[in-house]
Amino acid sequence: MPHPTIYHGTFLHHPSTKPSAYEVLEDRYIFVDEGGVIVGISSSSSPPEGGELEGLRKHTESFIQEGKIGKEWADPVKWLIVNGTDIGEEGGGRGGKHSGRRGKVRWFAPGFIDTHIHASQFPNAGVFGNSTLLDWLRTYTFPLESSLADPAKARKVYNRAVAASLRAGTTTASYYATIHVDSTNILAEIAHEKGQRAFIGRCNMDREGINEDYYRDASADSAIADTIATVDFCEGLGRRSDSAKPGQGLDEDRKSESLVKAIVTPRFAPSCTPECLAGLGALARERNLPIQTHISENTDECKLVGELFPDRKSYADVYDHFGLLTDNTVLAHAIHLTNEEKTVIKERGAGVSHCPVSNSSISSGLCPVRSLLDAGIEVGLGTDVSGGYSSSILTAAREAGMVSRILAGLEARQGKEGGGDRTKLMPEECLYLATRGGARCLGLDEKVGRFEVGMEWDAQLVEVEMVKETGEEETELVDDDPGLVQLWGGEGWGDRIAKWVFCGDDRNTKMVWVKGRLVHERK
Ligand code: GUN
Ligand code: FE
Repeated sequence: MPHPTIYHGTFLHHPSTKPSAYEVLEDRYIFVDEGGVIVGISSSSSPPEGGELEGLRKHTESFIQEGKIGKEWADPVKWLIVNGTDIGEEGGGRGGKHSGRRGKVRWFAPGFIDTHIHASQFPNAGVFGNSTLLDWLRTYTFPLESSLADPAKARKVYNRAVAASLRAGTTTASYYATIHVDSTNILAEIAHEKGQRAFIGRCNMDREGINEDYYRDASADSAIADTIATVDFCEGLGRRSDSAKPGQGLDEDRKSESLVKAIVTPRFAPSCTPECLAGLGALARERNLPIQTHISENTDECKLVGELFPDRKSYADVYDHFGLLTDNTVLAHAIHLTNEEKTVIKERGAGVSHCPVSNSSISSGLCPVRSLLDAGIEVGLGTDVSGGYSSSILTAAREAGMVSRILAGLEARQGKEGGGDRTKLMPEECLYLATRGGARCLGLDEKVGRFEVGMEWDAQLVEVEMVKETGEEETELVDDDPGLVQLWGGEGWGDRIAKWVFCGDDRNTKMVWVKGRLVHERK
């Protein structure tokens, strides 16, 4: 089991559902029990009297007295303390043993939530030419996905895809796999073994004429049956690890409930017959499953939906009609929605996965995120690999900021009412979408995405460089590359967040935990 752990330092998160309202808890202790649940957060924000350890003892004793934590915490030798405090230029710093030559500033943040990623497309990251959605699917995507019928190839691809996601600080990912049950189940197994919180979607696509004959479900019935096979497999993951003997396959830590769940995944409306969509809606209802799909990404796609479903009022109405628009649905892209569609999405409580890197890469359009937020719709971020070229939600957050500025510029030029500056997303808002917004989209708002007693410890330790007093640059960066974020002194938290969002990358993500378990560490 993970050890009970005390995290000390600075904690940055969004305690409310207002995207601009971040909070920084400085010099705090967060107590996480062996089950990975936050059991106590110290309230003191001033340095404890009598030194580090004495202060910690005081916090611990008062938590025990208040009944917040058990007596087992009283024995200091059992504490594993993770240092999230700053490290001085000479190394050491408060409580740190590190020998870094640069000054480092550290903070904990909630793990990133990737609300939309195609693990199966990972080998194509960066490759999209000048295609747009429908020809991109035929040229790049279907040939790659169909090759994952080979379980050995799938294992290789999925091992890499999940590792890249964890390395980028993503503690929860909602994955698309392919149509193949065995390969999709391999993705579920890999996420489970690596310890990521994950939703696993076997991709449904049974419509002849739209899908290629070499890569589609044979019928609506076979699509539903194959989806059920993956749902059953995912539900069995936790149970199987229970029966595994220590040293066999899954380790002791994995005995608890599986963090991997199945998600019902119609690829997008055009790829499915009405029978398939109806069957998936019924399955989601019967088995109480979340749903993910694409909506209104590209104008040709929207036109195609109109032609294929002439009886339905709109793209959103197709999903609604088949029971696929629920408060457990995540809709990727949502760029070209009408106001009527926004209203029904809000009424059903479905969330939107904003995928700005993908939208720019395959020139799908500029998603008006502010108008979705104003409509009261939950919004999170998706990498949408490989429509998007990066597995990093930090990169998606950066692009969300950039795209909102391009849109603001266009709106201002058009003299659009409500356009202009209000359309722009500030870095702290992008960070909200990357964490709390994603948790809300995926129905995890009572589990992860912020630091509060009762929440699970899905977190990352961020470290950025504080430029030396002398301004001198390090010449040897090989073993200790600080990345591109540089603090020059005097930056407030708004500027620190901005620098992290716009200049940060995997090098700043030092440690990553899911439900208290360390799942990535950058040495
Ligand atoms: N619409 C249908 N399939 C896909 C896909 O694989 N990626 C993206 N971005 N959109 C889609
Ligand atoms: Fe996608």
